[in-house]
Amino acid sequence: MDVTQVLCMNGGNGDNSYSNNSLLPRKVISMTKPVIEDALTNLYRALNFPKTLLMADLGCSSGSNTFLVASELVKSIDKIRLQFGQDESAEILIYLNDLPQNDFNNIFLSVSQFQKGLAKQTIRNSSSPPCYFSGVPGSFYTRLFPKKSLHFVHSSYSLMWLSKVPEMTETNKGNIYMSATSPPSVIRAYRDQFQTDFSTFLKCRAEEVVTDGRMVLTILGRRSDDPSSKECCYVWDLLATALNHMVLEGLIEEEKLDSFNIPQYAPCAKEVRNEVEKEGSFTIDHLEVSDVNWDASTDHNLILSEEDNTHGYNMGKCMRSVAEPMISSHFGEAIIVEEVFERYTNIIKDRMSKEETSLINVTVSMTRKA
Ligand SMILES: C[S@@+](CC[C@H](N)C(=O)[O-])C[C@H]1O[C@@H](n2cnc3c(N)ncnc32)[C@H](O)[C@@H]1O
Repeated sequence: MDVTQVLCMNGGNGDNSYSNNSLLPRKVISMTKPVIEDALTNLYRALNFPKTLLMADLGCSSGSNTFLVASELVKSIDKIRLQFGQDESAEILIYLNDLPQNDFNNIFLSVSQFQKGLAKQTIRNSSSPPCYFSGVPGSFYTRLFPKKSLHFVHSSYSLMWLSKVPEMTETNKGNIYMSATSPPSVIRAYRDQFQTDFSTFLKCRAEEVVTDGRMVLTILGRRSDDPSSKECCYVWDLLATALNHMVLEGLIEEEKLDSFNIPQYAPCAKEVRNEVEKEGSFTIDHLEVSDVNWDASTDHNLILSEEDNTHGYNMGKCMRSVAEPMISSHFGEAIIVEEVFERYTNIIKDRMSKEETSLINVTVSMTRKA
């Protein structure tokens, strides 16, 4: 699998789009708002109230979450400059980055609407800060920006995706991810790939971020030291269950299943800290672990749209919007893909009705050293 060609969320605004099924990641972005605001306040002060701020959202996808991040960044900067008694807003340029298959067109079509909405939302009696956008297609495991050009980097729910499927010396039989039944060599291959990728990511960003620049990353992770623990593997184990049933019924070839592995690794906080310290260019200011229920609509503190409230939240559809391009590319026929997601959604619904199910987030805020 060539991850840069295959990995993307379902584009557009349709029923199965990421845009319409990403309440859970949206909730995670909202949860990390205080960490982002803190980092931006310290940045603003350290850079002595800059007139221009260049920011990047890496793995921005497309749809409402892309603009939620942008709006949080702009609103925070506006609030901070008022706190510091600055009359003039900084001009903000936000680079929106994702892999080339991402639906950038959908983003660009929504920019002017976002800018109009922003003018209404910014603090009363203050004109909204000038905000410009630029799309940056490419892998964040490569250099994306000129040296020392970025003041702030944000990324949410993207860095758990690896640059490639780990090279395995044994077959991960019956599994599509790390699992309790995966051979130890498979778990090692996943862990090694994460270490290589995350350290490459840090090296690239170290080149691009200015001294005192800040970076806030939220990664789908785990609390346990064990990379095959249920808290990070369960959601993919359930997809493997659906696929294994279809193998038993002769709908999918066994070899097809055995050759499919999800290019993802959910690290614990210790692994994130180790890689940052090993690479050495950033100081960790804050590292936290949080939980988010699969049923993101259960949190009443979150401001949801009317539609989110009335229809509840469907984790099956969220997972489809994330995994469908990968499943289609590997398993092919549309009819099989439909069947996979119908079964997967039913299994997820059943589990959610019987047990507490949540995902773990690792959020790290750091500063570029001199
Ligand atoms: C689950 S989505 C998260 C989107 C958005 N940040 C949010 O929180 O809703 C993960 C995004 O990361 C992108 N991604 C994965 N690997 C990437 C890479 N190497 N470089 C750039 N983007 C990547 C995917 O294409 C996808 O759009």
